[in-house]
Amino acid sequence: MSFDVKTFRRAMGCFATGITVVTAASADGGEPFGVTINSFASVSLEPPLVLFCLARSSRLSPDMIATRSFAVNVLAEDQAPLSMHFARSDSQRRWTGVAAGRHDDGTPLLAGCLAHLHCTTEAIHDGGDHVIVVGRVQSLDWQHDGHPLLYVRGRYGRLGDLFVPVAAPGDVPAVPAVTTVETVSGDAVAMTGEASRSPQGPSGTAPPKWATPSR
Ligand SMILES: Cc1cc2nc3c(=O)[nH]c(=O)nc-3n(C[C@H](O)[C@H](O)[C@H](O)COP(=O)(O)O)c2cc1C
Repeated sequence: MSFDVKTFRRAMGCFATGITVVTAASADGGEPFGVTINSFASVSLEPPLVLFCLARSSRLSPDMIATRSFAVNVLAEDQAPLSMHFARSDSQRRWTGVAAGRHDDGTPLLAGCLAHLHCTTEAIHDGGDHVIVVGRVQSLDWQHDGHPLLYVRGRYGRLGDLFVPVAAPGDVPAVPAVTTVETVSGDAVAMTGEASRSPQGPSGTAPPKWATPSR
């Protein structure tokens, strides 16, 4: 590979996500699980499927998630502390002071979230040092109002009322001018927008770097 793990993480950090906490009851009646997860995505409408990627080393191990239902708690913009709390592996008393209700089967549902998706595990796929957990949504609740907690370039953020709608996916866009640039590997890549207008790239920064894994 022509890049290391740090570079890979930084590149992935450009992709803004929301934040969820995946919760599940313990099988033996012990303390439930809660893990901060931003690799969450919807998969299918019919049937309603979602996915998230879970580190093989997680407390909530792939073996455990395979055998029980779980909830995806979508965090609101004022819940960064909860995200940090459930990302810690050293917390002794994880649920002390955490406001949460329970689904009928005991799965914790965190208070104050924008949405809760209660899921049964549909499939688990290999994903390198993670597994890809596909869940079938069995029930849900969600809020019409409220803003999501965001995560980009390793920082939490919020949009609040600053969100500026640019377009809806159904809108017909005006196609911007396209410029062709060379990558380090010599392939031609079409670029649009700021980067195509300035040889320095957006906002006078260095031109984009193209790194490719060696085959
Ligand atoms: C913003 C953020 C997003 C995260 N997303 C994921 C994720 O998608 N998948 C995952 O397995 N761990 C993710 N983590 C790491 C876990 O929340 C947790 O830190 C890790 O599992 C260590 O805890 P454990 O070993 O006790 O489970 C994320 C952490 C943070 C702070």
